Amino acid sequence: MQSTLLPQIYERVWRPVVFNVAKGWPSGPGTAEEHALARDQLGLAQPGDIAKPAATVLDVACGPGNTTRALATGVGENGLVVGLDASASMLARAAADSQGIAYVRGNAIDPPFRTGVFDAVSCLGALYLFDDPWTALDGMVRVLRPGGRLVILTTRRPSLPVSRVTGDLLGRATGITMFDDDLPDALTDRGLTVLHHRRYPLMQFLAAESK
Ligand SMILES: C[S@@+](CC[C@H](N)C(=O)[O-])C[C@H]1O[C@@H](n2cnc3c(N)ncnc32)[C@H](O)[C@@H]1O
Repeated sequence: MQSTLLPQIYERVWRPVVFNVAKGWPSGPGTAEEHALARDQLGLAQPGDIAKPAATVLDVACGPGNTTRALATGVGENGLVVGLDASASMLARAAADSQGIAYVRGNAIDPPFRTGVFDAVSCLGALYLFDDPWTALDGMVRVLRPGGRLVILTTRRPSLPVSRVTGDLLGRATGITMFDDDLPDALTDRGLTVLHHRRYPLMQFLAAESK
């Protein structure tokens, strides 16, 4: 993810092709539907809505800002949207395309923000890349205010034996973490209430609320 080529092709080619296949396209959601679901579950407005909340939103591992910009369309003028990523080349791409969004370079394992400052935290398409996803989850929960919302889109290790082999091979070949269907338990263990868990062939989407 430190390469200079990937940020150029990520949003238009890599993201839609790889993610939509993993989400089971055409029956699974495309990118626009996924972003609408994320805005909805985070309590943000949809494009075209007149009233938009003045929410503080953190997009963890924002990459070139594709999801960050989609979330920003659901936030009012007095809100604040922040993208956090470890890659300078991804952030350079993000900053070139976004207005009114703050980008911060840092490690998702220890997000450089005060406790309880965000109304909404998203982490789409990245948890499986982190060296220590459980500590990263702790960090996301820490920066969320009580009653705040968290959404996650990550990998899913299929439960049926035949497709499970595919999931395991994929994980081994790429080095990414394949999460089981019990990922909601990790959120419950951290004091969140799980509101939504949608399973796709090789991915899963979760939404939860902080107590
Ligand atoms: C596949 S992109 C996801 C981009 C975007 N969130 C999306 O929805 O498509 C994954 C991003 O995670 C970032 N990343 C990986 N490990 C990280 C870490 N420990 N801390 C912060 N960012 C990290 C990479 O730099 C990359 O930009």
